[in-house]
Amino acid sequence: MDIKKLIGEMTLEEKAGLCSGADFWHTKTVERLGIPAAMVSDGPHGLRKQDEKSDHLGVNDSIKAVCFPTACATASSFDRELLTSLGAALGEECQAENVSVILGPAVNIKRSPLCGRNFEYFSEDPYLAAQMAGSHIKGVQSKQVGTSLKHFLANNQEHRRMTSDSVIDERTLREIYLAAFEGAVKSAKPWTVMCSYNKINGTYASENRRYLTDILRDEWGFDGYVMSDWGAVNDRVAGVQAGLDLEMPSSDGINDAFLVEAVKEGKLKEEVLDQAAARILNIADRYLKNRKPDAKWDKDAHHDLARKMEGECAVLLKNEEILPLTDSDEVAFIGYFADQPRYQGGGSSHINSTRVESAVEAARDKRAIYAQGYEIDADQINSALLEEAVEAAKKVKTAVIFAGLPDSFESEGYDRTHMAMPECQNTLIEAVAAVQPNTVVVLHNGSPVEMPWIDKVKGVLEAYLGGQAVGGAIVDILYGQVNPSGKLAETFPRKLEDNPSYLYYGGEKDVTEYREGVFVGYRYYDKKHMEVLFPFGYGLSYTTFEYSNMKADKLTMKDDDTVTVSLDVTNTGKVKGKEVVQIYVEAPESQVIRPVRELREFTKVELEPGETKTVSFKLGKRAFSYYHMELKDWFAETGTYLIHAASSSRDLRQKINVKVESTVKEPVVYNLNSIIGDILSDPDAADIIKPLIDRYKKGNALGNSDGEAAKSAITQQMDDAMFRYMPLRQILSFAPQVSSVKEMQELVARINEKK
Ligand code: BGC
Repeated sequence: MDIKKLIGEMTLEEKAGLCSGADFWHTKTVERLGIPAAMVSDGPHGLRKQDEKSDHLGVNDSIKAVCFPTACATASSFDRELLTSLGAALGEECQAENVSVILGPAVNIKRSPLCGRNFEYFSEDPYLAAQMAGSHIKGVQSKQVGTSLKHFLANNQEHRRMTSDSVIDERTLREIYLAAFEGAVKSAKPWTVMCSYNKINGTYASENRRYLTDILRDEWGFDGYVMSDWGAVNDRVAGVQAGLDLEMPSSDGINDAFLVEAVKEGKLKEEVLDQAAARILNIADRYLKNRKPDAKWDKDAHHDLARKMEGECAVLLKNEEILPLTDSDEVAFIGYFADQPRYQGGGSSHINSTRVESAVEAARDKRAIYAQGYEIDADQINSALLEEAVEAAKKVKTAVIFAGLPDSFESEGYDRTHMAMPECQNTLIEAVAAVQPNTVVVLHNGSPVEMPWIDKVKGVLEAYLGGQAVGGAIVDILYGQVNPSGKLAETFPRKLEDNPSYLYYGGEKDVTEYREGVFVGYRYYDKKHMEVLFPFGYGLSYTTFEYSNMKADKLTMKDDDTVTVSLDVTNTGKVKGKEVVQIYVEAPESQVIRPVRELREFTKVELEPGETKTVSFKLGKRAFSYYHMELKDWFAETGTYLIHAASSSRDLRQKINVKVESTVKEPVVYNLNSIIGDILSDPDAADIIKPLIDRYKKGNALGNSDGEAAKSAITQQMDDAMFRYMPLRQILSFAPQVSSVKEMQELVARINEKK
């Protein structure tokens, strides 16, 4: 397409028209110029292509497709390649179905376990989320199909999601909420980005120039088009001006007319509209040029991939020598989910799966009996089902209970109100565990749950919402064909009240203040030294790993350099397994309040029994930095940083110190209100101010003549503290004879000049 030429030939009405959908899923055609429609479809863990009745809630049917594990599961793989293979499979399906952009991945941070859409999101940690999203994007786009990174920005709750205002300070936005998008945009260049429904600090995402243009395009280099979430447009003209290119779905011409009018009245420059239309055409052209009309995809192969993937994602949370089971064991599979697994969430990501593989079906060649145990449609104890399950449990060597959250407990569109599982399921687990000491619980849920029975069972396997092949994957793990290697991408708090957003989550009417700031997830629990049920990064294996020999290629570096750290990991157990090695960086004492340590790198390594491999990681400035409000940039303070190699955020195995020297001067400007302690601790300033301070101290020395040593020591301490935190000007109130305003102003001017 000669896009420039086409834009030149289009009428104002055609250009405005191109910037909104033709219907629910297509962009408009301009027949006279040969511009074809392009189709977009949901995403993110399967293709939801609707041919007939359309909706954005997953109500009407879509074509048959494979439902892969959802993001809450895939993030637990900590495996970039796995996400890329998921993306590539989706890309193949899109090529076969003529879909130009698949909507996702969704990279919003899990601020609270309550968010109804957590199952679609990756993590509480922005680095992990960005890495997973970036890998997903690379996979899809390797098939010349676009992605839409969503929901930009700060859409961390479903409650009033279309109008709520996420009020967040700049440092928190940069370090947590923007960072997840930033990493994915910079590393993987998504073809499109979808803006969210909500407001950010008072302005709707769909008309927020700061995020859609200043940061997304100008800072991060995004070069695709921005589309709205479905119905997220408030003021269309303001939206185009801010950088929202495509409105979805169709607004039936209403908003197009506003755009035409705004251009005619001179309120919107025609070049701005041209630019939006050109961006949309550019992506359509990228897709069309590489279109593979004969593409086919293999349903069975993708189903098998979904099974293999889930095997890498499920997290073994507890195992007191109960797993793996052996084929000859008599086992009772108990719980509705054993036969009818919950493997995906509700809403726009809902897939019409090609097939669903349950654990009961996958274990048909094992010695397993089945009992339903609980009802799924209502949280009420069914005594007959409960009794049947208890009897089944008594008969066998091991009971495996499949439990978790029913569809009604979590979904797009609303948030959970508590973190509990249905009472009928908790009762079942307690009842079975009371008669069967060998009890394992397999969980199907999109977000953490409380586990009041945790001490009464011997094993817990977190399957998350593991895609249509979840049953097969879980049987593979239960019986040891697959060695579990997932690690939690989020903390499981003991109870909801422990979560840092607990007091403010959901907000007041349409205002949600993110008052916990950067202390999201483990950043909070670690700072508070809090006990958690399972920490971020945690997960067991059927083997054990030892870490040794941590090294760094340098022990001192400038902040514009990089350091490579390496260590050896050895499989010290009896079976092959995979370990996720996590690198956390701990900053020295800082002038700002920082988390204790933060995840900065990770890798997954496969080892035969007895095998050792060396893994290495490159860390640059960003790994040591916080977002500096005055510099408006990332800043690594000079100091010694502790780099940990860890098996989870609470299982630190090896460490090394690296000194980082900042090459950036902070914009410190002193005045008469500056604190004396600050000035004295600044090497550029101390010498200049010292004579004045000495004079003051001399003239104001505390007497120590009463002989009460203890009292005077305390008095001295108090005096020192008073002095340290005293503004310079106060010298004049206490000892006017020592200096003058003029002299002080001159001293301050000299210091500032030197800076
Ligand atoms: C969701 C998006 C989805 C869109 C289209 C919206 O309700 O928030 O994630 O892509 O619908 O179905």
